[in-house]
Amino acid sequence: LSDGLNRLRVGLIGIGGVGRLHLEAYRRSAAVEVVALCDADPKRVAEAAATCGAATYTDHQSMLAAESLDIVCILTPPASRLRIVADVASAGVAILIEKPMATTRADAEEMRRLCDDAGVTLGYGASYRHLPALKHAHDLIVTGAIGDVILLREDFIGGRGPASRTALPPWHYPAGGIGGTGMGLVDHGVHLIDAFAWLAGSPVAWASGRGNRSGDALETEYAVLGLANGATGHLIYEDGTWPTQLPGEGQFSWGASWDQDGYHPGGMWQAHPGSIHVHGTRGALRIFHYAHALYLTDAEGTRQIALEGDPAPDHFRAQIDAFAAELMDNMSPTIGADAGIAALTVLEAIYASAGRNVAIEA
Ligand SMILES: NC(=O)c1ccc[n+]([C@@H]2O[C@H](COP(=O)([O-])OP(=O)(O)OC[C@H]3O[C@@H](n4cnc5c(N)ncnc54)[C@H](O)[C@@H]3O)[C@@H](O)[C@H]2O)c1
Repeated sequence: LSDGLNRLRVGLIGIGGVGRLHLEAYRRSAAVEVVALCDADPKRVAEAAATCGAATYTDHQSMLAAESLDIVCILTPPASRLRIVADVASAGVAILIEKPMATTRADAEEMRRLCDDAGVTLGYGASYRHLPALKHAHDLIVTGAIGDVILLREDFIGGRGPASRTALPPWHYPAGGIGGTGMGLVDHGVHLIDAFAWLAGSPVAWASGRGNRSGDALETEYAVLGLANGATGHLIYEDGTWPTQLPGEGQFSWGASWDQDGYHPGGMWQAHPGSIHVHGTRGALRIFHYAHALYLTDAEGTRQIALEGDPAPDHFRAQIDAFAAELMDNMSPTIGADAGIAALTVLEAIYASAGRNVAIEA
């Protein structure tokens, strides 16, 4: 294992928008070193390698044959990943995979089977759980600061009319399957489906709502999630209308973030930064997950809670460090294939529900 400094040797497959962020964040890791980069686009991989000196490849099989790796991060579009997982598992290398794990629950289960059969560890990139504002919110909930969680909600509603809806391409989500926009249920809401169950400490028991299919006309997406403990989670996504935020509303964002206009580096005022609301029997939390701020309201009033750790994209460093530490200790990953499969199971239930409540098989 590892280099002379005991850092695990990492290869990245897929150096697009998120791949470049993983690369940037991993520079601050004491646990891993990126030694190989692979992207089907030779220009992209060469540009990224120029900043770090890693070896470059345009197909993952050549990378696996030439390099001795401890971890491969799969950062390509969801539709491309099953074949890559099969090849990396055959090579016996641990995998950290981006969200959503696959475009169907069946493919994600096949990934888990391939890795189990090969004795390979498969970690799932539920990166929101590594954002300091969410981590601290989770700690507060566990210590009873807001009592029993009864309601969780998040939405993204805005844009500049119907023309601002942009569908993710079919090479990310094949036509006819789950799909939609970058700030919709599948590509963004999948984080919240995972985070709601984690924050409330209870799995999703039923789901209802509707999501866009790849290739179809885009409409408003929504979901109501029934957690096993009786709490409900609420998601609404629409980026083809106009925002209702008023001038003066907003938050200074310390962290990098995404919205329908793309990636923002942080260190700027944001008129409507993403936030998650968690309501309990004794208080409520407002979590600005990328803006890196957390507020608690209870009978004593509203106060800001100080956060430890650095904002996005440092959560990708925290994520790989946690995964690397578990690998070094021969532990199963805290966030493994089961979490990725659970999120896809809920997504498929939302799609299947057509507005009815659909029970989730555990
Ligand atoms: N965790 C997060 O917060 C977060 C944020 C953004 C994106 N993502 C996820 O990351 C994934 C990638 O998103 P993106 O925005 O970087 O996409 P992108 O289209 O910008 O980049 C994908 C890259 O993969 C490469 N690629 C495709 N197939 C390949 C193959 N078979 N072998 C090698 N390279 C291949 C492409 O050339 C491209 O450079 C998506 O699943 C997305 O949901 C996660």
